[in-house]
Amino acid sequence: MNDLLGKPIDRVDGKLKVSGGATYSAEYFPKNMVYGVLVLSTITKGRIRNIDTGQAERVKGVVGIMTYKNAMSLHFPQGTDPGSGKYAEKGLLPLQNDRIYYDGQVIAVVLAETFEKAEYAAKLVKVDYETETPVFDLNANISKSYIPTSGGSQLQAKRGDADAALQNAEVKMEQTYTTPVYHHNAMEPHASVAEWNEDSLMVYDATQAVGGVRSLLSTLFDLSPEKVKVTSLFIGGGFGSKGFTWPNPIVTAMAAKMVKRPVKLVLSRQQMFTTAGRRSETIQKIELASDRSGKLTAIKHDTISESSFVDEFVETAGLATSMLYSCPNVEISHRLVRLNKVTPCPTRAPGEATGTYAIETAMDELAYQLKMDPIQLRLLNYAEMDEQRQKQFSAKNLKECYQRGAAAIGWSQRNPEPGSMREGNYIVGYGMATATYLANRVASAAKVTLYADGHAEVLSATQDIGTGTYTVMTQIAAEALALPVDRVTVKIGRSDYPTGANSGGSQVTASVGPPIRAAALAVISKLIGLAVSDTASPLHGRKEEDIIADNGRIYEKGHTDKGESYAELLKRKGLQKLEAQAKTRVSTRDPQGANPAPTGGMDAAVEEESKTNPAVQEDQDVDRKPYSFHSFGAQFVKVLVDPDLGMVKVDKAVAVMDIGKVLNLKTAKSQIMGGMIFAIGMALLEGTAYDPNNGRVVTRDLAQYLVPVNADMPQFDIQFIDKPDPYISPIGAKGIGEIGITGMTAAVVNAIYHATGKRVRQLPVTLDKLI
Ligand code: MOS
Repeated sequence: MNDLLGKPIDRVDGKLKVSGGATYSAEYFPKNMVYGVLVLSTITKGRIRNIDTGQAERVKGVVGIMTYKNAMSLHFPQGTDPGSGKYAEKGLLPLQNDRIYYDGQVIAVVLAETFEKAEYAAKLVKVDYETETPVFDLNANISKSYIPTSGGSQLQAKRGDADAALQNAEVKMEQTYTTPVYHHNAMEPHASVAEWNEDSLMVYDATQAVGGVRSLLSTLFDLSPEKVKVTSLFIGGGFGSKGFTWPNPIVTAMAAKMVKRPVKLVLSRQQMFTTAGRRSETIQKIELASDRSGKLTAIKHDTISESSFVDEFVETAGLATSMLYSCPNVEISHRLVRLNKVTPCPTRAPGEATGTYAIETAMDELAYQLKMDPIQLRLLNYAEMDEQRQKQFSAKNLKECYQRGAAAIGWSQRNPEPGSMREGNYIVGYGMATATYLANRVASAAKVTLYADGHAEVLSATQDIGTGTYTVMTQIAAEALALPVDRVTVKIGRSDYPTGANSGGSQVTASVGPPIRAAALAVISKLIGLAVSDTASPLHGRKEEDIIADNGRIYEKGHTDKGESYAELLKRKGLQKLEAQAKTRVSTRDPQGANPAPTGGMDAAVEEESKTNPAVQEDQDVDRKPYSFHSFGAQFVKVLVDPDLGMVKVDKAVAVMDIGKVLNLKTAKSQIMGGMIFAIGMALLEGTAYDPNNGRVVTRDLAQYLVPVNADMPQFDIQFIDKPDPYISPIGAKGIGEIGITGMTAAVVNAIYHATGKRVRQLPVTLDKLI
């Protein structure tokens, strides 16, 4: 083996990306293509009384305008779930009727020979609305909140009696923390190109789930899934926004059918703020009780977040709280308020990002109340097991994260007294918090082909949303194939490859790595089988288990010279290629640890082949029922606060992450750093503003919606425990895309309190809240 896992190799797609050779979804130009531009509603609730497209239609170069009046009717069997959870009712699909449920709803698509003409004509579409009074203020409508119908029983979790424990508590605290709406703001906007060929549909779409888009489109257009191909080779960030299928690929395909030409449709940056999801606003009440020593006796975490009238989404802020600390009495609740806004959706660590902000700020408040070191408070209440599910953790090395993080930031030099530390004109603050995210793994399949020239190709219908999937999957395949990385090509981002994981929930590495490994091992095993049974091979007659594969060669153990290269063997046998497919059906998402993945369908052949793959079987045979799968980490920050201006600069940020085996130190650090930067945005800068008169988004661009820039960056120190999780998979790696944002927001807020003595419970902590 190559010992490739863990190596900080450069991104295999790096050159393509910096040279412009990587083709993103908006960069396809099918022959005879027209450009689509969306017209969006400018009211928040009501109906279209009249839509006048006459003037727009007369613009030279306009080839069609699609509104609810002429749009095709979409096929949607009642009660079926298209996979993404969206569009629960047919009437809520785009352009099916005259109803308006939110600001920025798609009401027309203008199609023209050039983008400029389409955009010009779109401005000439005149809409006469009948306006109704919208509901858009979460705070003002708490009385209308309801228990979510989706998300399962864990959203209303309870153990012991938290209310009784709070009543009898020696020490208690109760505070409410709020987080605003955040937008994902991926660099690449949502983009689709759709082309029909008779009754087959080809869609290039910026998506985190080629399989999800295929499944929804095949339902809506009443096609068998084989008739729909979705491609997403390169993606300029998703962060959850591209996890659901928004109206854009649907109307692009509808329009292409209507004008009988390929259509390209790209959302503008402004449209991204109303039409492609967002992180829900939250109101989180936390109650903590402890004895005088700091041992927790009760935790209550009640979350109210937003949903829409179009669908339901729950920001699961309380989920992590149920297992984060050892405590006999815990109560978690989630309620939703339907608002006239586009449906919220996953946003980097959906639930944990907002939830750890609240619980980890509350823990800091309790530590101050107890006059106790915040790390000590966490160690005193360390959860040795998942007490909510009554299961052991598959792996947890969080104590080491606290210790190493504290050392790296210089915690021992911290004077706990708020405002007591200075550096020049600045007040210094140190803060820390616990990070955690689910260690998700779902069913996935892959195909590996070794060609006669000695290079290999890997196929799986998963995506690289910018996280490094191409690179890490190349490493996993190359390691198992015993080939150098430059002789392995990973091909992903096409729905006609074997089903891979959606790029959500930090699950791709843990889900797609094992079937790639299993298929690669099967190829090598076939190769060895060929050699030992071939009289012309120097390995003829040897025992298969004595054969080693290394650097594109197989040889007999202890006799490096006795062997041959893969290419020599395949050529002699007259074989163009050797291939194997594998599907692993492991899911850590299912609380029972069962394998709920559906069988059959397009993966039937892969499943059949997997039954005789020992690597698949060994992996699936691991008893995962006794384990709770999570990643952990500790975040530490040092902030500098200008006491006159209230300006906060994060000066240093330390993360020590326990995410199982690190597969690529370079991309792993980059993922954690990206999450931490997101958290700096959450804590200090970001937040979508709505017009209080009509509920429309005000901050519709990156001039008004502030994201962190280079000048905001601290010095980063990112470390890993790097111990394989023995139960997640034979590779031992857990996902890493989301945990970096968790804990970090609280660490910044806690550091600001240490610096200023001001506890800000309404994010973001803008300077007006500090002076
Ligand atoms: Mo992630 S927010 O689950 O795409």
